[in-house]
Amino acid sequence: MALAAWRGEIVDFTGDPLRDGRAACRHFPDGLLIVRDGRVDSVGPFEALRERIDDIALHDLRGRILMPGFVDTHVHYPQADIIASPASGLVDWLDRYTFAAERRFADPQHAAQVASFFLDELLRNGTTTAMVWATVHPASVDAIMAAARQRGMRIVAGKVLMDRNCPAGLRDTAESGYQQSTALIERWHGVDRLGYAVTPRFAPTSSPAQLAACARLLDEHPGVWLQSHLAENRDELRWVAELFPDARSYADVYDRFGLLRERSVWGHGIHLDAADRDRLAASGAAIAFCPTSNLFLGSGLFDAAAADRHRLRFALATDVGAGSSFGMLRTMAAGYEVLQLQGQTLSALRAFHLATLGGAKLLGLDDRIGSFEPGREADFIALDPAATPLLARRTALADTLEERLFALMMLGDDRHVADCWLQGRQAVSPEGR
Ligand code: GUN
Ligand code: ZN
Repeated sequence: MALAAWRGEIVDFTGDPLRDGRAACRHFPDGLLIVRDGRVDSVGPFEALRERIDDIALHDLRGRILMPGFVDTHVHYPQADIIASPASGLVDWLDRYTFAAERRFADPQHAAQVASFFLDELLRNGTTTAMVWATVHPASVDAIMAAARQRGMRIVAGKVLMDRNCPAGLRDTAESGYQQSTALIERWHGVDRLGYAVTPRFAPTSSPAQLAACARLLDEHPGVWLQSHLAENRDELRWVAELFPDARSYADVYDRFGLLRERSVWGHGIHLDAADRDRLAASGAAIAFCPTSNLFLGSGLFDAAAADRHRLRFALATDVGAGSSFGMLRTMAAGYEVLQLQGQTLSALRAFHLATLGGAKLLGLDDRIGSFEPGREADFIALDPAATPLLARRTALADTLEERLFALMMLGDDRHVADCWLQGRQAVSPEGR
């Protein structure tokens, strides 16, 4: 029975700040987190729990904030090498960089090398769970799953499905994509901490037959996720309208194929109308809000207030390589700025909730991760506000937890992620990074 404990300032969420306000946040200024066999045993004030830890290892992290690991709900590992590549917009960016980068994943060695770098970069940024895109090549899924397994990370990933409007080297067919996805689900879904997501790139690159095959995969494998892109860019919207003239809207294309459902996570969801939001919300689908990506590509501003009005769930995502940072702190800051531009706001409590328990809930994994409830898998991070002089100074001048968390989200980056644990074990790179 392996028991260990961490002393520090502890912050997590037991509810949603949107509904419950400050009461959603649990805060122990001098707290103790006790982990047994990789799961949270208990959490509380140090003084109340101290007698329980006589004989076990105590990690003294006073001065740091202990928080559940971040959850990135939409990120492309094969695009790690094209982050920060300028383009006039989504389609130009896909044509100029993305497809060329993804073609290299025909080489399993390249895939393994990038997968390894990518996961280490997530961990360096405090992200312990992610919903990850591979490429059209089945071996690219094997590479990310094997690297995640080696590190003990909770990763959901899938092979891109793309049978038209893309370069030849990246094209599957409705039938081959279905067969390959089936084999990958059987190989990886539910193995250790891994899950599978059926991954049609977006409506323009999948034929009606392929979109129908996606629904078949989901029906045949309950518990598997779906990830795709939706309503990111106005040129993309026009393209979808030409390809699917009978659909009422872009979201309606996916709806007609039975793809709007629980466990479906749609990247972006910027250019939606009220009927789309109602239908998405009623179906149980959710949006991955990708603020750095939306700003970088000039895609538009995600309307969080409209999502909230329609009870359309969303969480945060980096969307690397269109996103300009691997870090969820930088992503929260960009999210705040995107909402400011629309006369809306993103409180620090809501931002940290979205990046932890909110992301876990979006993926249906909140019974496993996302908080320090007893029994949850002990994936957590230590944030160090003193890691840079500016944040140290700003933090010293802050009166409340909210003020300190706000400064951390606006000024923080990977330098402030001091450490990261997966199931109570310090995250280490097999590559020595
Ligand atoms: N739409 C279709 N493919 C992609 C992609 O790789 N990144 C982004 N941001 N949008 C997409
Ligand atoms: Zn994306």
